[in-house]
Amino acid sequence: MERLSTESDSLFKTNIEKVGRLFPNVITEAKDENGKLIKSIDFELLKQELSGQIVSEDCDRYQLTWPGKKEAILLTNTPTSKALKAVKEESANWDSTGNLYIEGDNLDVLKILQKSYIDKVKCIYIDPPYNTGKAFIYKDDFSMGANRYLEKTGQNSSSDNEFDGRFHSNWLTMMYSRLKLARNLLQDDGVIFVSIDNNELYNLQIMMNEIFGESNYVETFIWTKTSTPPSLSIKSRKTAEYVLCYEKKLSGMKYYGTKLENCDAPLLNAGNPVRVLSFPRGTIRFTFLKDGCFSAGRYNRVELLNDFEVKDGINVEEVFLKGEFKWTKDFMLKEIQKGTYFIVKSSKFSIRFQRPNNEENFKPPTNLLDVELNKNSGVGTNENAVKELEFLGMGRCFDYPKPLSLIKKILNMVIKDDKEAIVLDFFSGSATTAHAVMELNASDEGRRKYIMVQKPKTIPKDSKAYEAGYSDICQIGKERILRAAKKIKEDTGTNIDYGFKVFKLD
Ligand SMILES: C[S@@+](CC[C@H](N)C(=O)[O-])C[C@H]1O[C@@H](n2cnc3c(N)ncnc32)[C@H](O)[C@@H]1O
Repeated sequence: MERLSTESDSLFKTNIEKVGRLFPNVITEAKDENGKLIKSIDFELLKQELSGQIVSEDCDRYQLTWPGKKEAILLTNTPTSKALKAVKEESANWDSTGNLYIEGDNLDVLKILQKSYIDKVKCIYIDPPYNTGKAFIYKDDFSMGANRYLEKTGQNSSSDNEFDGRFHSNWLTMMYSRLKLARNLLQDDGVIFVSIDNNELYNLQIMMNEIFGESNYVETFIWTKTSTPPSLSIKSRKTAEYVLCYEKKLSGMKYYGTKLENCDAPLLNAGNPVRVLSFPRGTIRFTFLKDGCFSAGRYNRVELLNDFEVKDGINVEEVFLKGEFKWTKDFMLKEIQKGTYFIVKSSKFSIRFQRPNNEENFKPPTNLLDVELNKNSGVGTNENAVKELEFLGMGRCFDYPKPLSLIKKILNMVIKDDKEAIVLDFFSGSATTAHAVMELNASDEGRRKYIMVQKPKTIPKDSKAYEAGYSDICQIGKERILRAAKKIKEDTGTNIDYGFKVFKLD
């Protein structure tokens, strides 16, 4: 009976996992008959996922909820009646380009993209409104039960003010549907990065745990956003923002951080278990000794188990060493097969390893993205971002652009070696992401494509952007891409895809 119950138990767990693969958001925690917490299904949510109408009320469970959540699910699953219209005259290199600049509300656009881009996008970067209370008005077109939806989410005809903008529920409703649709577009090994500040960081993480699955959480990168933190608060001077990172299905992919140029590293690490490793002939280079002999015995932190000879700076026999090595035998074998070799720099025999140059010769990124720690890749601040637009002759035309270096750093983490990757940014703003993709392509003649989505938004008449001749944010995004493309072409002379096709929601 015991065994039988374990088996049915695991079958039940497998079924829950299967449902979770289709709808990660319905996985929750509940108590079993013994009061133990177990993974369970939120049947209410599952019903909602499978229903074309609002389904009825909840019971107690661990979950993030807010007024409007069910409507948000329904809204996600309701098809859009809109379509995309090609606008050739505003595009660049229409016939040859694979890049897209789409003007429209991203909710509709993400729904339309489901047809052609499902499972195709390698990397999504978004920088949504942070719900600071300044610029946040969402009136999603919720045709079924619109009144209830608007009423529940606090949206009505006069909801254009700052107070309404600060409701967490509105923001969550807006983000929930978009993130759910975005997840479908990711390839299985796709990755999403979301910029956020402390206003909604905690809500965003719980919501993304639900949509992407907690087990697919990768990191909360901390970005040093300014070198001159303001003294607006008497409690702290804010210097950081965050970038949440999730994979669609957590994989073994190593993220690119810093290149290790000809840099060897110690093979010994105090505290590791003592192991014996064998070093085949020719795998150890002695930089301090051309020809000579070593006798078995203790050498500082290692024990040499056999005598051997060095000729032309290399071991001519197999060498056996005992010590607190970082690597196991199996791992060491794989490394040797990849061409990794070892270096001994003094008679103390402190053995080090060196990976071959063309191999994975890099470290993953630290979770702190700033100028200091990332000297080689130089992750800049908001101040740099403003200068970058100035450099393109578009100074002060867009509030709060992200620095190019931040987005390049993020994209590089996952698409450095994927020259065909599709990158999506559905809160495009000044199109920094498109600029970053072009720069990455120019650095290695890649064919990565971008999809930018930006809602048309009239520019206020009393702004610098209006003075500079822009009447809509989309004009700024497209102009930035054109200017960045021209500059990259002049600077590098590379023949990459500098164009984009413009589509507008019809
Ligand atoms: C914080 S900005 C992004 C800035 C961008 N990362 C950059 O470097 O320029 C957010 C952008 O998303 C746009 N946006 C907000 N809601 C949107 C929606 N529903 N659909 C499409 N774009 C939207 C805003 O107009 C704004 O341009």
